[in-house]
Amino acid sequence: MKQIIDVELRARKVDFSKCKTDLLAVGQFSDVKGLDKINGELNRKLDGAIERLIKLGDFKGKDGTSAIVYGNSQIRAERVLLVGLGEKKKATLDTLRKAAANAANKAVEMKIGTVSLALHSAFGARFDLTSMARVMAEGTYFGSYRYDEFVTENENGRLDSLDVELIDSDSAKTKKLNKGLWSGAIIGKAQSYARTLANRPGNVINPAKLAAAAKDLARDSKRLSCMVLDERQLAAKGMGGVLAVGSGSQNKPRFIVLKYNGAGKGDAVGLVGKAITFDSGGISIKRAAKMDEMKLDKSGGIAVLGTMKAVAELKLPINVYGIIPAAENMPSGASYRPGDIITTFSGKTVEVLDTDAEGRMILCDGLAYAAKQKCNPIIDIATLTGACLVALGRCMAGLMGNDENLKRQLQSAAKESGEKVWPMPSGDEYGKEMKSKIADLKNLGSKWGGACTAAAFLKQFVGDAKWAHLDIAGMDIFEKPTEFTVEGSSGFGVRLLTTYLMNLKGKKG
Ligand code: BES
Ligand code: ZN
Ligand code: ZN
Repeated sequence: MKQIIDVELRARKVDFSKCKTDLLAVGQFSDVKGLDKINGELNRKLDGAIERLIKLGDFKGKDGTSAIVYGNSQIRAERVLLVGLGEKKKATLDTLRKAAANAANKAVEMKIGTVSLALHSAFGARFDLTSMARVMAEGTYFGSYRYDEFVTENENGRLDSLDVELIDSDSAKTKKLNKGLWSGAIIGKAQSYARTLANRPGNVINPAKLAAAAKDLARDSKRLSCMVLDERQLAAKGMGGVLAVGSGSQNKPRFIVLKYNGAGKGDAVGLVGKAITFDSGGISIKRAAKMDEMKLDKSGGIAVLGTMKAVAELKLPINVYGIIPAAENMPSGASYRPGDIITTFSGKTVEVLDTDAEGRMILCDGLAYAAKQKCNPIIDIATLTGACLVALGRCMAGLMGNDENLKRQLQSAAKESGEKVWPMPSGDEYGKEMKSKIADLKNLGSKWGGACTAAAFLKQFVGDAKWAHLDIAGMDIFEKPTEFTVEGSSGFGVRLLTTYLMNLKGKKG
């Protein structure tokens, strides 16, 4: 069985009722009385079946719901999937993305190999067709994603490939749809790539394996290069933070630097991602419950990897560094200890008070490295604090930073990509808590405001660069399956960061 489900995507001009397909997906808002043109026509040909479904209250068009009506001799679709879009006035591009994901998820679940999406029609001219195609493509990848590479006894088997077409009866419209599919497929694939890497457990992916994956990525692209520092080179460079965190594990740490050159000599954006391939807490060990979820503590680094893949395939006209400090945080006789004082890459010293606050110990070296390469702006992404999860739940990532304009750009990319962020503070009030009496900084603040003190710590390592920090603890995982996807890694950050970078030069495919 193949590791991923192959998705084929295209746009086609065809009349909705004449479209031969296993599943025709159409959208319906909850607050729109009556049926729109397409749904009305399908309803007539289906002898009023859609109207009856709605009248009986079996389908109300609510967000995240769907219903199937079976075809008849009057239409050429075997099934019509009505996908709820919620209230029309609240609808965004993400509504459409989720609707496509919902349809793709159903198709895979039901082992339906060919799907036709007419979901954009319900939105009329509210968004341009190219953007609508892009988000439908992203949603299709998202919803059809499965992770089963280690399942050898799947009685029911699963779909190997999914054929998806965006259909419209107007050929001018299918042309525009086709344009958006290209970038949507690149972003969708990059996110699935990130989800698979993140879902792989600690015994399969360690820092060296992650570095090998980054090298593979660079091999596939002319504009992408990859440099990896091993343990000895880390010592030579004085990357004390990464070395300290990695010291307890048999799986030695790595420092991964991907460089994308799309703009010659110009400035580079620096992306820095936390990649702890497993976070046991180290000597300050975590409790057992749900410790398995800490295999996802590499999600920030992998979001950077996925973004670099997308950026290279989109051939964006910018320069980007993808900096990924990678380590496994384990307890052993060689581990770093509470009380240790570590000299980091920047030269600043840090008193370790909790070995479970390891994310900031590796990120400070990553950020200082980005600053040294003169990256500007610098954006880091990390499953950094349980406190952020307490503050924002599993709905939004925390957004901190030292530049209002950069934060605004990320907020607008979050809206577009459907990967939401919420602003949180990281000013001097919080910075004060991170001062140590016997070193420059300590890695633990007081009991309160843990997401903000962590960000205030990171801020010390970016020099004069514009900087933003995304705390994605909580956003890295779906604990349970939803209407539109399976449980496990969410790939959060790939869409957000890629959208941010696409917007820098106003390049949208
Ligand atoms: N990787 C964790 C943060 C985390 C918690 C991510 C829950 C996802 C879900 C991080 O390394 C950590 O352990 N942070 C500590 C920091 C504390 C010791 C200051 C935390 O949040 O408890
Ligand atoms: Zn930790
Ligand atoms: Zn961690």
